[in-house]
Amino acid sequence: MKVFTKIKELQEYLADQKHPIGFVPTMGALHQGHLSLLEHSKKDNQTTVVSIFVNPVQFNDKNDFDKYPRLLDDDLNLLETYNCDVVFAPSVDEMYPEPPKESYDFGYLDKILEGAYRPGHFNGVAIVVNRLFHIVKPDRAYFGKKDYQQYIIIKELVKQQNLPIEIIAVPIVREASGLAMSSRNLRLGENELQVAPEIYKALTLAKNLSRNKSINEVKQAVIDHLRRFPDFRIEYVEIVNAENLKPINDWDEGNPIILIATWLGDVRLIDNMELF
Ligand code: PAF
Repeated sequence: MKVFTKIKELQEYLADQKHPIGFVPTMGALHQGHLSLLEHSKKDNQTTVVSIFVNPVQFNDKNDFDKYPRLLDDDLNLLETYNCDVVFAPSVDEMYPEPPKESYDFGYLDKILEGAYRPGHFNGVAIVVNRLFHIVKPDRAYFGKKDYQQYIIIKELVKQQNLPIEIIAVPIVREASGLAMSSRNLRLGENELQVAPEIYKALTLAKNLSRNKSINEVKQAVIDHLRRFPDFRIEYVEIVNAENLKPINDWDEGNPIILIATWLGDVRLIDNMELF
């Protein structure tokens, strides 16, 4: 496995590697969810590149950025074990020699759900992903469905920028408890880890109730379930069309997906489930 921290050296090396190139962008603190992205890429491509970069410009909350787990040595060991070909782990100065100024317009897509609660977040994601795409020049890039809105926005980014990259969404990987794998789970305390799987139970409840109850009734049942656990501070529970994230009022209006964001202690968790 080759590890690069400099753009130029990475690009010189990749110039001689076999295509198709699969790319898995990450912020490190790797877990089975990331490894599933890696496995999909390895299956589909000749060369797989994983990037590890905690991107400061996508954090609207400085505390979240400061506390984001950084475990580079462990990550590199794990990637080596899973036969990753190339790792790109740049410094902030390497990615941003100057403070980045790009501004993207994704219309309503980045104003709703996460965008409403984390202003600037998706612009920061688009800045780093677009730069990484131009550096790595992959044929395919892999994103987890856990960050479902991010996946939709990256597809829009690739369309707007006319990039020849296929965006592939990979299913959520869950703990045995149902808790969606996330690097932020490392920050949950023992008691919080007991409560966190209730998010999955609430999503499953929604799936079981869908079609038999109205959309509003299902949303309310999910909120009622989560409210039984006072440690949750819910930000949103929404049911939208999975293709375009537009709200739906009727089950027949599109392929419905339920998305939840809630605080648990000082950790913000998101999860979702396609309902049909
Ligand atoms: O999903 C993530 O880990 C990040 O948002 C990404 C795509 C690596 C960009 O920093």
